[in-house]
Amino acid sequence: MSKVIQAIRGMNDILPEHTAVWQHVEDTARDVFQAYGYREIRLPLLEKTELFKRSIGEVTDIVEKEMYTFEDRNGDSLTLRPEGTAGCVRACIQNGLLHNQMQRLWYAGPMFRHERPQKGRYRQFHQIGVEAFGMAGPDVDAELIVMTARLWRRLGLHDLRLELNSLGTPQARAGYRDALVTHFEAHRDRLDADSLRRLNTNPLRILDSKEPRMQALIGEAPQLPEYLDAESRVHFEALCARLDEAGVRYEINPRLVRGLDYYGRTVFEWITDRLGAQGTVCAGGRYDALVEYLGGRATPAVGFAVGLERLIGLLEETGAAPGASNPHVYLVLMGEAAEHRGLALAEELREAVPGLRVQMHCGGGSFKSQFKRADRSGAGLAVVLGDEEVAGGQAGIKPLRGAGEQQTVPQSALAERLATLVNAPGQGLGAGPAGRG
Ligand code: HAM
Repeated sequence: MSKVIQAIRGMNDILPEHTAVWQHVEDTARDVFQAYGYREIRLPLLEKTELFKRSIGEVTDIVEKEMYTFEDRNGDSLTLRPEGTAGCVRACIQNGLLHNQMQRLWYAGPMFRHERPQKGRYRQFHQIGVEAFGMAGPDVDAELIVMTARLWRRLGLHDLRLELNSLGTPQARAGYRDALVTHFEAHRDRLDADSLRRLNTNPLRILDSKEPRMQALIGEAPQLPEYLDAESRVHFEALCARLDEAGVRYEINPRLVRGLDYYGRTVFEWITDRLGAQGTVCAGGRYDALVEYLGGRATPAVGFAVGLERLIGLLEETGAAPGASNPHVYLVLMGEAAEHRGLALAEELREAVPGLRVQMHCGGGSFKSQFKRADRSGAGLAVVLGDEEVAGGQAGIKPLRGAGEQQTVPQSALAERLATLVNAPGQGLGAGPAGRG
């Protein structure tokens, strides 16, 4: 027998027992974003490599070492998207969505980065991202953050803290960059290999180093707020004031610089301590220069992306994840007449009770074996149809979980009875929409 082919490392199957929580998160996010006027945009997974190089930055970890890049049959260099912002900006420019317009957009889907896989870090992972174009003020930054806070509340999450910073204008950043280079140059001997490399390419990223022996030196480094330009300071203070008014708690982290080059002014991350090293569940910021840099008309922009694996990991960790969407009803069919009637009866039930999940037994077998499958399906109720019931126009209802007697009802009343049972709270059905309602 040939060897079973395995999935690619860091690229995971999401199995049926987990898809209910994914759907719950996706549905909730869509609902919340729509409540703020955001509309969905769907984007290709593949883009020209140049797009990511130009937007994310040549000397970032993503572009230097993490992209899935290859030549297609025409010899063009293509890359599987490592994030969604670049493609979203490209699509907006190409389709004229930004001409004197404000746009509030969201997207969802897989992203690809060749990182070292570990808990919360994968090579194919999923983001739900949001981008707002055409609004320069701190009001939309505040709106985005308030919107994420609402998403956490809707999902029942209370373990996330918000970190905030302002990177200022490109000029302010350049001044800060010089100050950092001077500081780290003076202590070259204390830099690790990664930081030495970054010193000449992207010194701000040294501040992101997780290397323990770098922390003291980073602590002594000049702080970004001292170099902030006046306008960015006003912008940032206004954002903080709005968050205070909205009751959103945050912590200003002057070392928060983000790993992508397109940011300026506001940057933020929502972080949890419950997932170990990969605790950033949502991250984003302002990128006012990117649209013009990619060939569009100058357009301010701000956005964020939620890492779904991490968000779902947190939901599961805190017990806030909904259960699987098991069938409500398992239809047990004994005998040939019942098997014939079963297909139509199941259709009638689905028609009569919208949302009712009916799983029909297929393949025959004894009562015992059918009930075993009914139990394994996770359904709360079995509907039993034998030749006798078919002849009498009746059906049996048997609770599969908790207490309750078997009852026989006319088929004409079956849908109504099932609807009552499935919707009744505390019936021990254990198979309702499992918190998804
Ligand atoms: P990012 O910080 O690179 O930003 O990624 C956003 C989120 O995606 C992270 O906070 C994390 O939750 C998740 N994530 C990133 N890499 C991985 C991975 N290898 N495995 C699992 N989850 C991961 C961006 O991508 C920006 N495009 C966000 C943005 C939108 N900024 C403005 N608009």
